[in-house]
Amino acid sequence: MRVLGIAGSPRQGGNTDLLLNEVMRGAANRGAEVKTIILSQLKIAPCQHCDGCLETGRCKVEDDMRMVYEELERADRLVLASPVHFMGVTAQAKAMIDRCQALWVRKYILKLPPLGSERERKGLFISVGGRKVANLFQPALATVKSLFKVLDIAYAGELLFSGIDEKGAIAKHPDALRQAFLAGQRLVEE
Ligand SMILES: Cc1cc2nc3c(=O)[nH]c(=O)nc-3n(C[C@H](O)[C@H](O)[C@H](O)COP(=O)(O)O)c2cc1C
Repeated sequence: MRVLGIAGSPRQGGNTDLLLNEVMRGAANRGAEVKTIILSQLKIAPCQHCDGCLETGRCKVEDDMRMVYEELERADRLVLASPVHFMGVTAQAKAMIDRCQALWVRKYILKLPPLGSERERKGLFISVGGRKVANLFQPALATVKSLFKVLDIAYAGELLFSGIDEKGAIAKHPDALRQAFLAGQRLVEE
């Protein structure tokens, strides 16, 4: 069982990173092989809608997204973490998600499995927002659920915390990190 974590925050060691680390620790604790990719350390250009992927299902842009496609193909479980930035996922996460348009082409135009081999894949979404407002996570959830659907990744749940703003504030939450560890264990057991 291979678990891929994708850290979408530009703030390293921040709240979503702390939660993601716990999920990955929980998964490893149940015997999974885990790997985390930090998007802010990679060069991933936004999709240019050049239609270069239309005939092949392969993006023509040569950048670090190549490695992300490979990791997505190898993963049995995906844990995507992104704080709320202007009510949505971060620019780093959105660039990666939009580049999955090539996988949309594979699935819906070329009628191929979007991630190559067909196997049971499940995904978890982690998010944190500084404010406490209604529907804080709805836009990000819609984007992430759309990604998972395109990639044939079953939506296995979410860890969402509002009112968490300062770097590291999530560690003061009474049980967020514990919840994350348990979610990581469950993700590989289910
Ligand atoms: C560019 C930017 C936009 C943000 N927009 C929102 C927002 O729309 N709603 C909100 O509740 N918090 C917003 N925040 C606050 C972050 O969600 C919050 O600080 C969060 O804890 C950051 O998580 P991290 O430490 O994992 O990066 C924003 C922060 C930044 C830097």
